Amino acid sequence: MKVKKILVIHGPNLQLLGTREPAVYGRVTLSQINKELKKIAQKRKVFLKIAQSNVEGDIVGLIGKSSSKFDGILINPAAYTHTSVAIRDAIAASGIPAVEVHLSNIHSREEFRHKSLITPVAKGTILGFGMKSYTLGLEALIDLI
Ligand code: DQA
Repeated sequence: MKVKKILVIHGPNLQLLGTREPAVYGRVTLSQINKELKKIAQKRKVFLKIAQSNVEGDIVGLIGKSSSKFDGILINPAAYTHTSVAIRDAIAASGIPAVEVHLSNIHSREEFRHKSLITPVAKGTILGFGMKSYTLGLEALIDLI
């Protein structure tokens, strides 16, 4: 059987995890998250490509190229969750399933975070569990594809 491929995208400012607003995001770093995701990928025998970008257009470009190369997308769009019609449209156009994850519970925070433009085009969303949102999201995506 062909090895399934998943594109993992971390949006803006997530490279700062570990020191960024620890009261909200905890002390976990992006490389610790990536390490956990790679462990799951190895166990479940899937291929992961992991990218982090602070640039909306780069994320749109990555997703745009993904449908021919990947079977699913795991994405934390970070601040673009609340603003990016372009990322939402790219996910919808890709035709492959996307799982949206957030470290924090965006609904218990400022009102401008309550709306996600991504949720309607995601297969599902996991939020509020810190790093666990990512690991649960990846497991769910692997089960799906
Ligand atoms: C976030 C929540 C967003 O509102 C915020 O802009 C982020 C991180 C989260 O993972 O909790 O950068 O996506």
